[in-house]
Amino acid sequence: MLQEDFKVAIDIGTTKVCTIIAQKRPDHRIDVTGISVVPCQGMSKGLVVDSEGVTSAVAKSIQTASEVAGVDVDAVYAGLTGNHVESINRWAKVPRGEGMRVITDADLSSAMAASSAIDLADDRKLLHVIPRSYALDGLHGVRNPLGMHTGELHVQSHVITGSISKINDLEDAISKAGVAISSMVVEPLASAYAVLTADEREEGAILIDVGGGTSDIAVYHEGTIIHTAVVPVGGYQFSNDLSIAFDINFDEAEQLKIKHGTAAPELTGMKEEITLNPHSMQQPLIITKREVGQILKERASELFRMIQFKLEEPHLADIPLDRIIFTGGGAKLEGFLNIAKYIFQKKVRLAKPRGLDGMPPGTDDPAYSAAAGITLWGMRNLPDSSHVERPKASESKNLWTSAVSVIRKWFSKDKPKERQSLEKETAGA
Ligand SMILES: Nc1ncnc2c1ncn2[C@@H]1O[C@H](COP(=O)(O)OP(=O)(O)OP(=O)(O)O)[C@@H](O)[C@H]1O
Ligand SMILES: [Mg+2]
Repeated sequence: MLQEDFKVAIDIGTTKVCTIIAQKRPDHRIDVTGISVVPCQGMSKGLVVDSEGVTSAVAKSIQTASEVAGVDVDAVYAGLTGNHVESINRWAKVPRGEGMRVITDADLSSAMAASSAIDLADDRKLLHVIPRSYALDGLHGVRNPLGMHTGELHVQSHVITGSISKINDLEDAISKAGVAISSMVVEPLASAYAVLTADEREEGAILIDVGGGTSDIAVYHEGTIIHTAVVPVGGYQFSNDLSIAFDINFDEAEQLKIKHGTAAPELTGMKEEITLNPHSMQQPLIITKREVGQILKERASELFRMIQFKLEEPHLADIPLDRIIFTGGGAKLEGFLNIAKYIFQKKVRLAKPRGLDGMPPGTDDPAYSAAAGITLWGMRNLPDSSHVERPKASESKNLWTSAVSVIRKWFSKDKPKERQSLEKETAGA
């Protein structure tokens, strides 16, 4: 296996930094060879608010994943989110010679250039230009025009832009950790890449990654992306509401949400009681799960209204979008899908990342969809280049937290039984 086959992805989320090192096998399957998850407190709503904090979490996460995989990392594919991320769909005329001619690779390159020729405001940067379809002498809806004949060629592209200053903040925080950035990918695209099935992309689906501080939205139809948006609300705000309502600190509120939270209080009995110790009270306070649920349901409803607002776009009005695929840690809240189904009146499901082999226990989870998607993006979409220098002669010591040692065991030669059996199952697939 060549070193060039390795790719390194980093997801700098509002609650955690996740680095994945993966390798393409000769059969084209993608094997995770190193992963690390490090808590991060330097981000808020997907934006850098404490650059040093982010740099230190990034450095630690990369170092740990690099130790697990046994390779040095010098460049990464990085995820980007925040409500500065915006998208438009635009048509552009592709400049080419006169008369009826066959469409060549050069025309498709000119189509990309024409799509990218946009007057942007001073603080905006082009992040992605994704051709959606072509029109050949006015005949719309052609997806792959290569080899076809036309006089005039037009291309419709999905164009995603972001704020230069916000992107620079993230790039600086990553660069200070001592790695180069091969490319950035917006997180709604990355998550969609990891969770949507081909049918969902084709027939039309809305992907929503509810993270700690953002909810990333990607809408697909006829196989390609048609809308991208980010809402600056995630699981953090759910916990914060509980912290304020019950006068407890944020960490206690977070635990309360994860252990007893629900967004569908009407489905829980009145009897389940929880004891809290509010700051302002001498005695413990006894509350019910239903009371917790009433607060979380309000927040979920508010989030869904904000998402609905982001979906009220003229270009989506006539598109049949009858399903929503949720992912991200925030969507794991009990009852979340029940209320989503009711408010959106669409089919809903909670998705874990697909497409990577060998994700260790605990990481085969909706919270890792963006990281998995960035990995797949690096593997499949962007030009090949090596981001790993050479295998390490020895593994360094003292880096392992207990969580990391579980991950390390997973990747070691003494594979745990569940991995051996999983590998046996997938070998025949
Ligand atoms: N079982 C659970 N029930 C409810 N919420 C949960 C559960 N597990 C995790 N969460 C919430 O998921 C959120 C973290 O999700 P995730 O790891 O996807 O976010 P992130 O990637 O760090 O943030 P972002 O994508 O917004 O930048 C936290 O708010 C956490 O409270
Ligand atoms: Mg995330």
